[in-house]
Amino acid sequence: MFRLPALLALALLPLLNSQPLHDGPTYTADGQLAFPTQYREWVFLGAGLDMSYDKNVSAPTHSMFNTVFVNPSAYARFKQTGHWPEGTEMVLENSGAISDASINKRGKTMSGELMGVEVHVLESQHGQSGWGFYSFDNPVSAKLIPATASCYSCHQQHAAVDTTFVQFYPALLEVARAKHTLDPKYVKAEGLDPK
Ligand code: HEC
Repeated sequence: MFRLPALLALALLPLLNSQPLHDGPTYTADGQLAFPTQYREWVFLGAGLDMSYDKNVSAPTHSMFNTVFVNPSAYARFKQTGHWPEGTEMVLENSGAISDASINKRGKTMSGELMGVEVHVLESQHGQSGWGFYSFDNPVSAKLIPATASCYSCHQQHAAVDTTFVQFYPALLEVARAKHTLDPKYVKAEGLDPK
């Protein structure tokens, strides 16, 4: 049986999810997304090394880590609901991977060379799905990438939750499984039990 506080929490959840987040995205005066300067202090979700979506593409000449972070209050809401709230800001950082640093003789470490910062933001101003993509070529601001770009179609077709690649963020994948918020397309593609 539900106890009163649990019921109350359930009733308040939709309200909670529409409250603005204090650490969400900010914009410049001309409407561009401001560079998320604090992202290295946000929650770490996962990392990939030399990932490619096409197995026919040869190994890159530059080895690269991609590391994903999200603003802490969005992470907290995801843990409660299994979905991302309005004001979610996810950052994909590309940085150099090197094999000959200091005493290391095998494997790779981060060189510290920043090679790109891409951002995925959930805010209703983006229309329809609410999700918008940005790619920074400077540490100040970036324009919204148009909805026709491949960013949107690949994420819509293949990402596990709310067009985000939760299948590569182990702690969140567990949450999404428990809350049953996995995208049916993903469940089908992976041959998982839809229950
Ligand atoms: C062919 C598929 C594909 C395309 C096209 C693509 N992505 Fe992604 N994206 C991924 C995958 C896979 C991950 C998970 C990365 C990881 O595990 O490190 C990801 C993760 C991200 C993330 C981290 C947050 C999230 O949604 O999971 C951002 C930000 C991102 N991509 C931005 C972009 C931008 C900007 C573009 C277009 C310029 C783009 N992506 C195009 C497959 C794609």
